[in-house]
Amino acid sequence: MPGQKQTKRPGVVPPGRFNFRALTSSGGLRTIAQFPRAAILPTLEIYAPIIADMNAVDALIRERLHSDVVLIRQVAEYIIHSGGKRLRPALVLFVANALGYQGSQHHELAAVVEFIHTSTLLHDDVVDESDLRRGNKTANALFGNAASVLVGDFLYSRAFQMMVSVDNMRVMQVLAEATNIIAEGEVLQLLNCHDADVTVDGYLQVIRCKTAKLFEAAARLGAILAGAPPEIEQPMADFGMHLGTAFQIIDDVLDYSADESETGKHLGDDLAEGKPTLPLIHAMQHGTSAQVACVRHAIESGGREDFSTVLEAIQTTRALDFTRNHARTEADLATAALQVLPPSIFKDALLELSEFAVARCF
Ligand code: IPE
Ligand code: IPE
Ligand code: MG
Ligand code: MG
Repeated sequence: MPGQKQTKRPGVVPPGRFNFRALTSSGGLRTIAQFPRAAILPTLEIYAPIIADMNAVDALIRERLHSDVVLIRQVAEYIIHSGGKRLRPALVLFVANALGYQGSQHHELAAVVEFIHTSTLLHDDVVDESDLRRGNKTANALFGNAASVLVGDFLYSRAFQMMVSVDNMRVMQVLAEATNIIAEGEVLQLLNCHDADVTVDGYLQVIRCKTAKLFEAAARLGAILAGAPPEIEQPMADFGMHLGTAFQIIDDVLDYSADESETGKHLGDDLAEGKPTLPLIHAMQHGTSAQVACVRHAIESGGREDFSTVLEAIQTTRALDFTRNHARTEADLATAALQVLPPSIFKDALLELSEFAVARCF
């Protein structure tokens, strides 16, 4: 709690307290709580080829979280150690490895993108007024909005300190641009909230900025570190952009269809905020006039009262199938971009990641 005296060492999670969600070989989910970390990480089968790198990134994250300010440690450790799929750091590592990178700067940059991601989550949960993330109370629900926003800023600026330590102008350009576009995407989304006339293109513009841009940056950074020429770097960036777009489209499907115990987030958060996501846009394009009026009203007024009627409109117009197909098209474009890579276990894992982005249920 804020202001309370911290008794454990900063940056250290006691053994046996790590809470992780692990993929099984069938792509299903295993939730493993209170398990020693070493016993869990190897079960993330897609990450198997980079497990040593992922462990190195994990150690770096713990180290770089340090601050003398107790509240920063409490909030930052709370969110960072609450789980999370660590997809964006994995992307940096897979692309760097697939292109034969031999150094260790990919660990620092992987930690940087996870810090940026975590910081956007802290801010996003305040803006979205969400109270559940990764199966736990959100940081804003537990510590308050002010602490969440300010510790989000701390993580953001710590990410920039780490990025500068890599001392590579291209890396700095990519991350400076990505973070700026992400912020633009969040503001664009704010403008779109409660607007039932948002088009598919308007929706796609938001998700490319707020989510896919960081995936793009992560994949591009792996290529830059490996010294890849532009004709390889650009397809890697395209891969990240399409993967991230598919990933967010499915996130928006899961907001209407998931099992909360698997996503660790509440259903209906998007509707509560009046977000015109693709399932709703489709339902308005194909529903009866009564359904169109209901969905329009739900977007314009927000809240959770209309959730079941909106869900019915989504079901009868098969809006989730349509939306999943859209994600599938993006994942196929991601896969196609990988053609420039030579065969390797890392390339295979990137291919699996594009499947995961569409098939995932968490
Ligand atoms: C959540 O991202 C925010 C979105 C872009 C949808 P993730 O689903 O990758 O979040 P964690 O890190 O695994 O919790
Ligand atoms: C992703 O959008 C937000 C960020 C890119 C930070 P959402 O608002 O849908 O993400 P969740 O569902 O809260 O994780
Ligand atoms: Mg949100
Ligand atoms: Mg969401």
